Amino acid sequence: MKKITIAIDGFSSCGKSTMAKDLAKAVGYIYIDSGAMYRAVSLYSIENGIFNGNNIDTEKLKLNIHNIQISFKLNPETGRPDTYLNGVNVESQIRTMEVSSKVSPISALDFVRKAMVTQQQAMGKEKGIVMDGRDIGTTVFPDAELKIFVTASPEIRAQRRYDELKGKGQEASFDDILENVKQRDYIDQHREVSPLRKADDALLLDNTNLTIEEQKEWLFEQFNKVTR
Ligand code: DC
Repeated sequence: MKKITIAIDGFSSCGKSTMAKDLAKAVGYIYIDSGAMYRAVSLYSIENGIFNGNNIDTEKLKLNIHNIQISFKLNPETGRPDTYLNGVNVESQIRTMEVSSKVSPISALDFVRKAMVTQQQAMGKEKGIVMDGRDIGTTVFPDAELKIFVTASPEIRAQRRYDELKGKGQEASFDDILENVKQRDYIDQHREVSPLRKADDALLLDNTNLTIEEQKEWLFEQFNKVTR
């Protein structure tokens, strides 16, 4: 069967990565979480004195950007790929609140995006890849054979994050989470470089009223339509 490129974009906390990972695993494709790459650049910046409070030393980061190599290796225990920064496994470090709070301004820098897009395109050269993010169908793989744009109401996304945090035993306020979801939507859609938008040829998936199982089924149908 011919291998294709699959681009999954959309708002934060939409369940993009869950569906992307599940599809990649089922069809034997590589899965790349492009958000993890921007998180890894943020971690590098924190560790290398590029942040002074919330200010970024952009000149220093620019000088070092080509020394930042990001790769992914399958973790046999979780069955999912872990993120490596210059050969070191940083999967858990890039998910901290500190990194989450610093990744937005890092991912808005033009030279950071250029460097990451180059690495992402190299990863997809052989096709057989599912990549999720914000600009995959518009900028990274504009010729992807299957493009999905995922959305859901802010309230349902906030509720899902609230349930997830509560499930981990963490304190959470629904109103704070909802505010954060809305704020990130605004930043993602209004930044100057590669703002989040649906590619004209992307299929729209609003999963507000779908279960994970229903969403998975829908995605498989689309994959089968394109590959058969
Ligand atoms: O999907 P995530 O929350 O892990 O993404 C982290 C950040 O990176 C988020 O602020 C959006 C940004 N991002 C981006 O600008 N472009 C992508 N292709 C993926 C993520």
